[in-house]
Amino acid sequence: MNSKKAYLKSFGCQMNAFDTEVIAALLTEKGCTITEDPEEADIIIVNTCSIRKHAEIRAINWLHNLSRHENATLVVCGCMAQKKGENLKKLVPGIDIISGPDNYSQLVSILSGELSKIPYTLLLGRNHDTTYKLPTTQQQHGKPSRFLSITRGCENFCTYCVVPYLRGKLRSKDPETVIDEINMMELSGVKEVTLLGQNVMAYQYGKVDFMNLMRIILEKTDLHRIRFLTTHPKDVTMNLFSLMAENSRVCPHIHLPLQSGSNRILKLMGRKYTREEYIFIVEEARKIVPDLAISTDIIVGFPTEEESDFQDTIEVIELARFDSAFTFKYSPREGTSAFRMDNNVAAATKKNRLAYLNKKLKEIRLDIFRQLSGKNFKILLDGRIKKGKYQYIKGRTPHFRNVIVKPGKLSEGEIIDVKLQELNGFTYTGEEI
Ligand code: 5AD
Ligand code: SF4
Repeated sequence: MNSKKAYLKSFGCQMNAFDTEVIAALLTEKGCTITEDPEEADIIIVNTCSIRKHAEIRAINWLHNLSRHENATLVVCGCMAQKKGENLKKLVPGIDIISGPDNYSQLVSILSGELSKIPYTLLLGRNHDTTYKLPTTQQQHGKPSRFLSITRGCENFCTYCVVPYLRGKLRSKDPETVIDEINMMELSGVKEVTLLGQNVMAYQYGKVDFMNLMRIILEKTDLHRIRFLTTHPKDVTMNLFSLMAENSRVCPHIHLPLQSGSNRILKLMGRKYTREEYIFIVEEARKIVPDLAISTDIIVGFPTEEESDFQDTIEVIELARFDSAFTFKYSPREGTSAFRMDNNVAAATKKNRLAYLNKKLKEIRLDIFRQLSGKNFKILLDGRIKKGKYQYIKGRTPHFRNVIVKPGKLSEGEIIDVKLQELNGFTYTGEEI
């Protein structure tokens, strides 16, 4: 019996969070236990992100810190491991294993083997077929809401983005595997699954496309809620919104990355849609699903972005009325085609644009949220939090908005009806009705 203890830390996107869960589940299957405390770990795994420079710096700082635990095997995996490879060992000499995103099965075999301290190993081979399946024996996760990746990789090659170089070719998971995994999750009490892919609309397994997959999931599982992330605007079709309108199990929320509202910048970014097309999707979608919540990603300061381009972005956010947004300063990534463009927007300009954009987004968000007061929603309870001296149980509406309620006899995993009462920041207090 293997009794090694593993500590895992995940940076970056939900895809990485899912991968970290897969690694943890595979290790558990091999007899390891997962610990929240790096002090007592025999194995320390840091799953890294390379999307922006800042993400890399944070992960490297963590690695430096964790390399103090000299007796543990220190693993760096994920996108930055694939990107920097052996150079990471020079940056952080305490690292024992460097593993890219296609090598996790091999990684787990090595880690769960007999050796207590593993000699320096590099696992960077590419395998454009890998899609990871959660082990079917793994049931006790305890969370009512889980991620599930349905595709890996990306072939869009947006000019700023490093992902296609690190995560490789697009591949889709067999629908039968997806159903097996969801059924396994349901056995452990999962009520909501978020299907993940760099662009879920690109899902294609034989003749099964994303819309077919959604219908199969609706038919073959009892999930109360299905979400999905991310959808590229160039591929979104209106039947997706029709499915939301017809079926309350498909949550009325879409993450639709805008990136920029300027046609000139969109073209330079290689996004393959115009601002007019983006606005068209938003307007038509809201005719079908009037209460649709839309979230987005926006980059400011892309090479050659002028004030007028930025104002175009502001115009689009005023029309689209985003529920929430992730906003970023452009970060040049070596190897991408934008890296060869002149990163000519001054740092101070990027900073000012980002601050102004965030201010505008916040105003819109607040306006949307204020109008929800007194309305009733179903929330899925997914955790507990403490506010001041009071304990609350927290949940999300189908639109992915946070609500907290007094716990009473409630427990995680329940879906309850609440009336929204008081808004604090962007979280409502609700009362069960
Ligand atoms: N610089 C800044 N933001 C980036 N993103 C991707 N690449 C970069 C980059 N080089 C953002 C995009 C994407 C999100 C996941 O990260 O907005 O949608
Ligand atoms: Fe996720 Fe992209 Fe970051 Fe990799 S580089 S962790 S795919 S966001």
